[in-house]
Amino acid sequence: SSLRLDVVTIFPEYLSPLDLSLIGKARRDGLLDLHVHDLRDFTHDRHRTVDDSPYGGGAGMVMKPGPWAEALEHVVAQGSAGGAEGDGDGDGAAAADSAAAGARVPTLIVPGPGGEPFTQQIARELADEAWLAFACGRYEGIDERVYEWAGERMPVRVLSLGDYVLNGGEVAVLAMVEAVARLLPGVIGNAESLVEESHEDGLLEYPVYTKPAEWDGRAVPDVLLGGNHRAIAEWRHEQRLQRTAERRPDLLPPTAVSTVLADLEER
Ligand code: ADE
Repeated sequence: SSLRLDVVTIFPEYLSPLDLSLIGKARRDGLLDLHVHDLRDFTHDRHRTVDDSPYGGGAGMVMKPGPWAEALEHVVAQGSAGGAEGDGDGDGAAAADSAAAGARVPTLIVPGPGGEPFTQQIARELADEAWLAFACGRYEGIDERVYEWAGERMPVRVLSLGDYVLNGGEVAVLAMVEAVARLLPGVIGNAESLVEESHEDGLLEYPVYTKPAEWDGRAVPDVLLGGNHRAIAEWRHEQRLQRTAERRPDLLPPTAVSTVLADLEER
């Protein structure tokens, strides 16, 4: 069974990196069933209009609700029908036998700077779902009534990549899909590489080294050359604490930050 992903965007080509590397391989292996939809296909005017000026005035344009509702209705109808047939979206995917066949609705994710922070914890939650749909907003945002309308039909989560502003949701979808897909069984060969990484247990990673043992006059820390596995594990844990205290004090209890940084001063 595979994870079905639907992405609605006015820039379908923006999602083409999902053909590459591990994600592309996962799709070809049938672990991911990705469908990209052009929002403009759900307009009915000559100019394929998806935006209009904001009520109440202000800068920029707002995405119209009508095309979004039609696009999401299409996604729900196509996905819940089983998805084994070509869909005429021109996405060219030989749709795998999706786990979404049977799920009635997707969880809708709307990336935006005003959302809940996207974290490793949320990536893990999303990797447990059978069907995710992503709505990529552009301009000043999507008419608020679309969130209400969708919320009456499917779970909706507004998620932010971080406290900065992108031009639209597409790049955020690339990041979120990669973070979720790599957690799926079979996507990453070495499952151990998943547990020993930043954010899986609340600490940043320890520094890593490879040959040569001396490079540019810089030596690899002695402890790593000694083969004392206990000592190596302790050193790595210490490095993780130090890094986290220095770079991401928000991840540690305030008392731990002071202790770790005071220990560092002493040396
Ligand atoms: N769209 C625009 N800015 C964004 C952000 N920071 N996170 C997610 N989606 C966005």
